[in-house]
Amino acid sequence: MNSSRQSNRHHSEDHLGEAREYWWNDDYLALIAQRLDTKSYQNIADIGCGYGSMTFRLAPYFADSAHLIGIDFEEAYIKKARQKAKRAQKSLNTHFTFQVGSADKIPLEDGQMDLTFCQTLLIHVPQPTEVIKEMKRVTRSNGWVVAFEPNNLVSSLMFDSYANTKYNVSDTLEMIEVRLRVEQGKRELGEGFNSLGGAVPDLFRQTGLTDIQVWMSDKTLPLIPPYNSREQRVRAAQLVDWLENEEGGLGYQETFHYFRAGGGKKHVFERYWQRVLAYKTKLLAQLKSQTYFSSGGQLMYIVAGRV
Ligand SMILES: C[S@@+](CC[C@H](N)C(=O)[O-])C[C@H]1O[C@@H](n2cnc3c(N)ncnc32)[C@H](O)[C@@H]1O
Repeated sequence: MNSSRQSNRHHSEDHLGEAREYWWNDDYLALIAQRLDTKSYQNIADIGCGYGSMTFRLAPYFADSAHLIGIDFEEAYIKKARQKAKRAQKSLNTHFTFQVGSADKIPLEDGQMDLTFCQTLLIHVPQPTEVIKEMKRVTRSNGWVVAFEPNNLVSSLMFDSYANTKYNVSDTLEMIEVRLRVEQGKRELGEGFNSLGGAVPDLFRQTGLTDIQVWMSDKTLPLIPPYNSREQRVRAAQLVDWLENEEGGLGYQETFHYFRAGGGKKHVFERYWQRVLAYKTKLLAQLKSQTYFSSGGQLMYIVAGRV
Protein backbone atom coordinates (compact mmCIF):
# COMPACT_ATOMS: atom_id res chain seq x y z
CA MET A 1 0.00 0.00 0.00
CA ASN A 2 1.42 3.43 -0.80
CA SER A 3 1.61 6.39 1.52
CA SER A 4 -1.10 8.33 -0.30
CA ARG A 5 -3.51 5.46 0.38
CA GLN A 6 -2.29 5.33 4.00
CA SER A 7 -3.25 9.00 4.37
CA ASN A 8 -6.78 8.22 3.10
CA ARG A 9 -6.14 9.66 -0.31
CA HIS A 10 -7.00 7.64 -3.37
CA HIS A 11 -4.33 6.06 -5.57
CA SER A 12 -2.40 8.71 -7.61
CA GLU A 13 -5.02 11.31 -6.62
CA ASP A 14 -2.66 14.31 -6.95
CA HIS A 15 -1.93 13.31 -10.53
CA LEU A 16 -5.43 12.95 -11.94
CA GLY A 17 -6.33 16.63 -12.30
CA GLU A 18 -7.09 18.65 -15.42
CA ALA A 19 -3.40 18.84 -16.44
CA ARG A 20 -3.67 15.17 -17.43
CA GLU A 21 -6.09 16.09 -20.21
CA TYR A 22 -3.13 17.71 -22.01
CA TRP A 23 -0.81 14.70 -22.04
CA TRP A 24 -1.29 13.82 -25.70
CA ASN A 25 -1.40 15.55 -29.06
CA ASP A 26 -4.65 14.60 -30.79
CA ASP A 27 -3.04 14.22 -34.22
CA TYR A 28 -0.49 11.84 -32.67
CA LEU A 29 -3.21 9.69 -31.07
CA ALA A 30 -4.91 9.59 -34.49
CA LEU A 31 -1.64 8.34 -35.98
CA ILE A 32 -1.30 5.58 -33.36
CA ALA A 33 -4.93 4.55 -33.95
CA GLN A 34 -4.25 4.41 -37.68
CA ARG A 35 -1.13 2.28 -37.14
CA LEU A 36 -3.13 -0.14 -34.96
CA ASP A 37 -6.05 -0.03 -37.41
CA THR A 38 -8.57 0.46 -34.59
CA LYS A 39 -11.50 1.94 -36.56
CA SER A 40 -13.48 -1.32 -36.72
CA TYR A 41 -12.88 -2.35 -33.07
CA GLN A 42 -16.07 -2.80 -31.04
CA ASN A 43 -14.92 -4.00 -27.61
CA ILE A 44 -12.18 -2.12 -25.78
CA ALA A 45 -11.05 -2.19 -22.15
CA ASP A 46 -9.05 0.42 -20.19
CA ILE A 47 -7.45 -1.22 -17.16
CA GLY A 48 -6.62 1.04 -14.18
CA CYS A 49 -8.77 3.68 -15.90
CA GLY A 50 -8.89 6.24 -13.05
CA TYR A 51 -11.51 8.86 -14.01
CA GLY A 52 -11.42 7.52 -17.57
CA SER A 53 -9.17 10.24 -18.94
CA MET A 54 -7.74 7.96 -21.64
CA THR A 55 -11.02 5.99 -22.10
CA PHE A 56 -12.78 9.16 -23.29
CA ARG A 57 -9.75 10.43 -25.17
CA LEU A 58 -9.39 7.28 -27.29
CA ALA A 59 -13.12 6.59 -27.78
CA PRO A 60 -13.42 8.51 -31.13
CA TYR A 61 -10.81 6.22 -32.73
CA PHE A 62 -12.89 3.03 -32.43
CA ALA A 63 -16.04 1.85 -34.24
CA ASP A 64 -18.98 4.23 -34.16
CA SER A 65 -21.01 2.06 -31.78
CA ALA A 66 -18.04 0.67 -29.82
CA HIS A 67 -18.33 -0.46 -26.19
CA LEU A 68 -15.54 0.82 -23.93
CA ILE A 69 -15.14 -0.70 -20.47
CA GLY A 70 -13.06 1.04 -17.81
CA ILE A 71 -11.88 -0.93 -14.78
CA ASP A 72 -10.24 0.43 -11.60
CA PHE A 73 -10.02 -0.73 -7.99
CA GLU A 74 -10.89 2.76 -6.67
CA GLU A 75 -14.65 2.97 -6.33
CA ALA A 76 -14.56 6.80 -6.11
CA TYR A 77 -12.87 7.00 -9.53
CA ILE A 78 -15.41 4.65 -11.09
CA LYS A 79 -18.26 6.80 -9.77
CA LYS A 80 -16.69 9.93 -11.24
CA ALA A 81 -15.99 8.19 -14.58
CA ARG A 82 -19.67 7.13 -14.77
CA GLN A 83 -20.72 10.77 -14.34
CA LYS A 84 -18.32 11.83 -17.09
CA ALA A 85 -19.69 9.05 -19.33
CA LYS A 86 -23.20 10.52 -19.14
CA ARG A 87 -21.86 13.78 -20.61
CA ALA A 88 -19.58 12.07 -23.19
CA GLN A 89 -22.41 9.86 -24.45
CA LYS A 90 -24.29 12.97 -25.59
CA SER A 91 -21.72 13.69 -28.31
CA LEU A 92 -20.44 10.16 -29.06
CA ASN A 93 -22.27 7.05 -30.16
CA THR A 94 -19.91 5.03 -27.96
CA HIS A 95 -21.25 3.03 -25.03
CA PHE A 96 -19.23 3.37 -21.81
CA THR A 97 -19.28 1.02 -18.83
CA PHE A 98 -17.15 1.62 -15.73
CA GLN A 99 -16.77 -1.04 -13.10
CA VAL A 100 -14.75 -1.67 -9.97
CA GLY A 101 -12.23 -4.45 -10.40
CA SER A 102 -8.63 -5.47 -10.00
CA ALA A 103 -6.00 -5.51 -12.73
CA ASP A 104 -4.66 -8.77 -11.24
CA LYS A 105 -8.00 -10.45 -11.82
CA ILE A 106 -9.79 -8.51 -14.54
CA PRO A 107 -13.56 -9.13 -14.30
CA LEU A 108 -13.92 -9.95 -18.03
CA GLU A 109 -14.26 -13.19 -19.99
CA ASP A 110 -11.38 -14.73 -21.96
CA GLY A 111 -10.95 -13.24 -25.44
CA GLN A 112 -13.78 -10.70 -24.95
CA MET A 113 -11.87 -7.58 -26.11
CA ASP A 114 -10.54 -6.44 -29.50
CA LEU A 115 -8.07 -4.16 -27.73
CA THR A 116 -7.10 -3.83 -24.06
CA PHE A 117 -5.02 -0.88 -22.92
CA CYS A 118 -3.65 0.82 -19.81
CA GLN A 119 -2.04 4.18 -19.10
CA THR A 120 0.40 4.61 -16.17
CA LEU A 121 -0.88 1.46 -14.49
CA LEU A 122 2.03 -0.95 -14.98
CA ILE A 123 4.42 1.54 -13.29
CA HIS A 124 2.34 1.21 -10.10
CA VAL A 125 1.86 -2.53 -9.75
CA PRO A 126 4.26 -4.88 -7.95
CA GLN A 127 4.01 -7.59 -10.62
CA PRO A 128 3.44 -5.99 -14.04
CA THR A 129 3.82 -9.34 -15.83
CA GLU A 130 0.76 -10.70 -14.00
CA VAL A 131 -1.28 -7.67 -15.12
CA ILE A 132 -0.10 -7.99 -18.74
CA LYS A 133 -1.04 -11.71 -18.67
CA GLU A 134 -4.53 -10.73 -17.54
CA MET A 135 -4.79 -8.07 -20.26
CA LYS A 136 -3.75 -10.71 -22.77
CA ARG A 137 -6.26 -13.24 -21.43
CA VAL A 138 -9.24 -10.92 -21.92
CA THR A 139 -8.17 -9.97 -25.48
CA ARG A 140 -9.16 -12.03 -28.53
CA SER A 141 -6.68 -13.79 -30.78
CA ASN A 142 -4.97 -11.25 -33.08
CA GLY A 143 -6.29 -8.36 -30.92
CA TRP A 144 -3.97 -5.77 -29.36
CA VAL A 145 -2.69 -5.23 -25.84
CA VAL A 146 -1.43 -1.64 -25.57
CA ALA A 147 0.44 0.08 -22.71
CA PHE A 148 1.13 3.81 -22.37
CA GLU A 149 3.88 3.92 -19.74
CA PRO A 150 6.66 6.44 -18.96
CA ASN A 151 10.25 6.51 -17.82
CA ASN A 152 10.07 9.13 -15.06
CA LEU A 153 13.74 9.00 -14.06
CA VAL A 154 14.96 10.47 -17.32
CA SER A 155 13.71 13.95 -16.35
CA SER A 156 16.51 14.04 -13.72
CA LEU A 157 18.95 14.83 -16.52
CA MET A 158 16.83 17.09 -18.68
CA PHE A 159 18.27 20.58 -18.91
CA ASP A 160 15.17 22.46 -19.77
CA SER A 161 16.47 25.97 -19.29
CA TYR A 162 19.84 27.41 -20.25
CA ALA A 163 20.60 28.26 -16.59
CA ASN A 164 20.37 24.54 -15.72
CA THR A 165 23.25 23.69 -18.04
CA LYS A 166 25.64 25.21 -15.46
CA TYR A 167 25.24 22.35 -13.02
CA ASN A 168 27.32 21.30 -10.05
CA VAL A 169 28.55 17.73 -10.65
CA SER A 170 28.51 16.47 -7.05
CA ASP A 171 25.09 18.01 -6.28
CA THR A 172 23.70 16.50 -9.48
CA LEU A 173 25.13 13.07 -8.65
CA GLU A 174 23.60 13.25 -5.18
CA MET A 175 20.22 14.25 -6.64
CA ILE A 176 20.40 11.28 -8.98
CA GLU A 177 21.35 8.96 -6.12
CA VAL A 178 18.28 10.13 -4.20
CA ARG A 179 15.97 9.64 -7.18
CA LEU A 180 17.39 6.19 -7.94
CA ARG A 181 16.97 5.13 -4.31
CA VAL A 182 13.43 6.54 -4.17
CA GLU A 183 12.55 4.41 -7.22
CA GLN A 184 14.23 1.39 -5.69
CA GLY A 185 12.45 2.00 -2.38
CA LYS A 186 9.05 2.14 -4.04
CA ARG A 187 9.78 -1.11 -5.73
CA GLU A 188 10.97 -2.70 -2.47
CA LEU A 189 7.71 -1.59 -0.86
CA GLY A 190 5.71 -3.31 -3.61
CA GLU A 191 4.51 -0.09 -5.27
CA GLY A 192 5.87 -0.71 -8.74
CA PHE A 193 8.65 0.95 -10.73
CA ASN A 194 7.99 4.47 -11.96
CA SER A 195 10.34 4.21 -14.92
CA LEU A 196 9.11 0.92 -16.34
CA GLY A 197 8.19 2.30 -19.80
CA GLY A 198 11.25 1.12 -21.71
CA ALA A 199 11.09 -2.36 -20.15
CA VAL A 200 7.48 -2.99 -21.19
CA PRO A 201 8.37 -4.48 -24.63
CA ASP A 202 10.53 -7.06 -22.82
CA LEU A 203 7.61 -7.88 -20.48
CA PHE A 204 5.26 -8.17 -23.48
CA ARG A 205 7.69 -10.65 -25.05
CA GLN A 206 7.88 -12.64 -21.80
CA THR A 207 4.09 -12.96 -21.72
CA GLY A 208 4.02 -14.32 -25.28
CA LEU A 209 2.62 -11.25 -27.07
CA THR A 210 3.83 -10.98 -30.67
CA ASP A 211 4.31 -8.36 -33.41
CA ILE A 212 5.56 -5.97 -30.68
CA GLN A 213 5.52 -2.29 -31.66
CA VAL A 214 7.26 0.46 -29.65
CA TRP A 215 6.72 4.20 -30.14
CA MET A 216 7.18 7.34 -28.08
CA SER A 217 4.79 10.23 -27.53
CA ASP A 218 5.73 13.41 -29.38
CA LYS A 219 4.18 15.53 -26.61
CA THR A 220 6.24 17.73 -24.36
CA LEU A 221 4.81 19.66 -21.43
CA PRO A 222 6.31 23.13 -21.84
CA LEU A 223 5.89 26.15 -19.62
CA ILE A 224 6.84 29.21 -21.64
CA PRO A 225 6.12 32.63 -20.11
CA PRO A 226 3.60 34.17 -20.00
CA TYR A 227 1.79 30.78 -20.08
CA ASN A 228 -0.86 32.12 -22.44
CA SER A 229 -2.73 28.90 -23.23
CA ARG A 230 -5.19 27.13 -20.94
CA GLU A 231 -2.93 24.07 -21.03
CA GLN A 232 0.06 26.00 -19.67
CA ARG A 233 -1.97 27.90 -17.09
CA VAL A 234 -3.44 24.63 -15.79
CA ARG A 235 0.01 23.05 -15.62
CA ALA A 236 1.55 26.05 -13.83
CA ALA A 237 -1.36 26.13 -11.34
CA GLN A 238 -0.95 22.42 -10.63
CA LEU A 239 2.75 22.89 -9.93
CA VAL A 240 2.07 25.83 -7.60
CA ASP A 241 -0.53 23.74 -5.78
CA TRP A 242 1.88 20.81 -5.38
CA LEU A 243 4.68 23.08 -4.15
CA GLU A 244 2.48 24.88 -1.64
CA ASN A 245 0.86 21.73 -0.31
CA GLU A 246 3.75 19.22 -0.56
CA GLU A 247 1.73 17.10 -3.00
CA GLY A 248 2.54 15.39 -6.29
CA GLY A 249 5.25 13.32 -4.59
CA LEU A 250 7.06 16.51 -3.60
CA GLY A 251 6.81 16.16 0.20
CA TYR A 252 9.60 15.42 2.69
CA GLN A 253 7.91 12.51 4.49
CA GLU A 254 6.91 10.62 1.37
CA THR A 255 10.24 11.15 -0.40
CA PHE A 256 12.29 10.18 2.67
CA HIS A 257 10.10 7.12 3.29
CA TYR A 258 10.93 5.77 -0.19
CA PHE A 259 14.59 6.89 -0.06
CA ARG A 260 15.17 5.00 3.19
CA ALA A 261 13.41 1.92 1.82
CA GLY A 262 15.85 2.17 -1.11
CA GLY A 263 18.84 1.97 1.27
CA GLY A 264 19.53 5.73 1.54
CA LYS A 265 21.32 7.41 4.46
CA LYS A 266 19.61 10.20 6.41
CA HIS A 267 22.54 12.68 6.25
CA VAL A 268 22.62 12.38 2.44
CA PHE A 269 18.90 13.02 2.31
CA GLU A 270 19.06 16.03 4.63
CA ARG A 271 21.73 17.64 2.46
CA TYR A 272 19.71 16.93 -0.66
CA TRP A 273 16.53 18.24 0.95
CA GLN A 274 18.13 21.60 1.85
CA ARG A 275 18.86 22.08 -1.85
CA VAL A 276 15.33 20.97 -2.75
CA LEU A 277 13.85 23.55 -0.36
CA ALA A 278 15.94 26.34 -1.89
CA TYR A 279 14.95 25.17 -5.37
CA LYS A 280 11.26 24.96 -4.47
CA THR A 281 11.25 28.50 -3.03
CA LYS A 282 12.86 29.82 -6.21
CA LEU A 283 10.54 27.79 -8.46
CA LEU A 284 7.42 28.95 -6.64
CA ALA A 285 8.48 32.60 -6.95
CA GLN A 286 9.28 32.15 -10.65
CA LEU A 287 5.96 30.42 -11.34
CA LYS A 288 4.02 33.16 -9.58
CA SER A 289 5.89 35.91 -11.43
CA GLN A 290 5.52 33.93 -14.68
CA THR A 291 9.27 33.83 -15.29
CA TYR A 292 9.78 30.05 -14.95
CA PHE A 293 10.72 28.44 -18.26
CA SER A 294 10.63 24.72 -19.00
CA SER A 295 10.67 22.66 -22.19
CA GLY A 296 8.98 19.92 -20.17
CA GLY A 297 10.23 16.90 -22.06
CA GLN A 298 8.87 13.53 -21.03
CA LEU A 299 9.51 9.98 -22.11
CA MET A 300 6.20 8.22 -22.63
CA TYR A 301 6.31 4.86 -24.40
CA ILE A 302 3.47 3.36 -26.38
CA VAL A 303 3.91 -0.39 -26.54
CA ALA A 304 1.58 -2.64 -28.52
CA GLY A 305 1.63 -6.44 -28.81
CA ARG A 306 -0.71 -8.89 -30.53
CA VAL A 307 -2.35 -11.85 -28.83
C1 LIG B 1 -1.69 6.91 -12.32
S1 LIG B 1 -3.33 6.39 -12.26
C2 LIG B 1 -3.76 6.33 -13.99
C3 LIG B 1 -5.23 6.42 -14.25
C4 LIG B 1 -5.63 6.44 -15.73
N1 LIG B 1 -5.13 5.28 -16.43
C5 LIG B 1 -5.13 7.70 -16.40
O1 LIG B 1 -4.14 7.64 -17.12
O2 LIG B 1 -5.71 8.76 -16.14
C6 LIG B 1 -3.20 4.65 -11.89
C7 LIG B 1 -4.58 4.04 -11.72
O3 LIG B 1 -4.44 2.64 -11.59
C8 LIG B 1 -5.33 2.18 -10.58
N2 LIG B 1 -4.77 0.92 -10.07
C9 LIG B 1 -3.55 0.73 -9.53
N3 LIG B 1 -3.35 -0.57 -9.25
C10 LIG B 1 -4.50 -1.21 -9.63
C11 LIG B 1 -4.92 -2.57 -9.60
N4 LIG B 1 -4.13 -3.54 -9.10
N5 LIG B 1 -6.16 -2.88 -10.05
C12 LIG B 1 -6.97 -1.91 -10.55
N6 LIG B 1 -6.62 -0.60 -10.61
C13 LIG B 1 -5.39 -0.26 -10.16
C14 LIG B 1 -5.38 3.34 -9.59
O4 LIG B 1 -6.52 3.32 -8.78
C15 LIG B 1 -5.33 4.54 -10.51
O5 LIG B 1 -6.60 4.95 -10.90
